[in-house]
Amino acid sequence: MVDPPAVADASETQPIDAARFRAVLGRYPTGVTIVTTVADVPGRTSGGQRRQPIGTTVNSFTSVSLDPPLVLIAIGRERSIHPVIATADRFAVNILDEESTLLSDCFAGAPSPLPREAFCDAPYSWGSHEMPILDAALAYVVCDLERVIEAGDHTLYLGRIVDLAARERESWPLLYFRGRYLRIEHAETEELLGKPDAT
Ligand SMILES: Cc1cc2nc3c(=O)[nH]c(=O)nc-3n(C[C@H](O)[C@H](O)[C@H](O)COP(=O)(O)O)c2cc1C
Repeated sequence: MVDPPAVADASETQPIDAARFRAVLGRYPTGVTIVTTVADVPGRTSGGQRRQPIGTTVNSFTSVSLDPPLVLIAIGRERSIHPVIATADRFAVNILDEESTLLSDCFAGAPSPLPREAFCDAPYSWGSHEMPILDAALAYVVCDLERVIEAGDHTLYLGRIVDLAARERESWPLLYFRGRYLRIEHAETEELLGKPDAT
């Protein structure tokens, strides 16, 4: 793949088109998450409804506030999960481990041997707040919808954390950088001596 020209010295006269936007913003490395929620669909239960898990690959995830505990995700308006989050009023963010590239591709609708229509065959359990929690998550948060902010072609969902956990097992996150998956090199690193938290 050839880089779009003049990323490093882009001038203000150039249009901010999709290629330039991706080339620049893609240089910010992130983790990879699967945002999950649940849809009530017609089914063979007593109430005639079945709870169907649904998920989408998301890297626009960030922590926002400790008190109250808030996180943010940005979901494209065209995504099939977009209206479902608003209806469910709740979502979970599953932080993927480094073995989960196939799941990430599948939940992104990319070519994959896994069945997207069957929740990508992803092993999961129903968390404490009836949200689908993936076995492949090395950590997760479950959020009630705190605020919905329309932002261009995306919607920002601000979530208030109602449950969160990190797996006990030693696992490493999947990373995403310039359209590619990366793994952390498993070298021993020194503890970071940054400014300590006030709390
Ligand atoms: C690594 C990665 C990160 C992504 N991050 C986001 C994101 O933050 N927000 C978003 O709306 N789509 C994101 N996408 C794209 C969606 O996952 C993809 O368009 C979506 O799953 C398509 O689902 P649909 O066909 O059900 O609408 C990402 C895709 C990948 C591969």
